[in-house]
Amino acid sequence: MSVMRQANICDLTQIVALNINSNDNAWAEQHFQAALNNNQIEVIEYQGKIIAFAIWQTVLDEAELHLILTDKAHRRQGYGEKLIQSFVTNNPHIKRIVLEVRKSNTAAINLYEKQGFRAISERKDYYMFPIENALIMEKIC
Ligand SMILES: CC(C)(COP(=O)(O)OP(=O)(O)OC[C@H]1O[C@@H](n2cnc3c(N)ncnc32)[C@H](O)[C@@H]1OP(=O)(O)O)[C@@H](O)C(=O)NCCC(=O)NCCS
Repeated sequence: MSVMRQANICDLTQIVALNINSNDNAWAEQHFQAALNNNQIEVIEYQGKIIAFAIWQTVLDEAELHLILTDKAHRRQGYGEKLIQSFVTNNPHIKRIVLEVRKSNTAAINLYEKQGFRAISERKDYYMFPIENALIMEKIC
């Protein structure tokens, strides 16, 4: 059975390793450290191993989803949806969630649309390596 919980400092090594193995555009370790310090990371554990996580930033009644990631071996099993749904349920004061996503990231865009996000604008050449536009998406809660 999987368990969802807030990440703590002991999870840093696993989160960084998962990010390197499962994210083509991996974040630097210090970004995870900063997010951990601010209690912004939710993880899903399965058989004692972290298999998915989401990084959020909240300001008053708005939130930003900075990164969501599922281990390659556990994709398409609903973990991404679970992370978003639980954030919404556990933060009823949040009225709007925004995020940026590569325009070619069909898996993530489909996940977001399924969770009620809609594209509201596009940022030209926002991403590097390779250069690509970002879609800005929002969910009104
Ligand atoms: C995007 C990502 C987090 C999805 O995680 P996941 O746990 O596999 O997602 P879920 O199983 O909850 O999928 C929910 C829905 O998303 C969509 N989806 C997920 N993966 C998909 C894929 N490969 N192709 C098309 N649609 C996909 C589907 O609509 C799916 O619902 P369905 O399975 O009933 O059809 C995962 O693919 C990932 O870690 N990608 C690399 C990191 C990344 O790009 N993160 C987003 C950065 S902005």
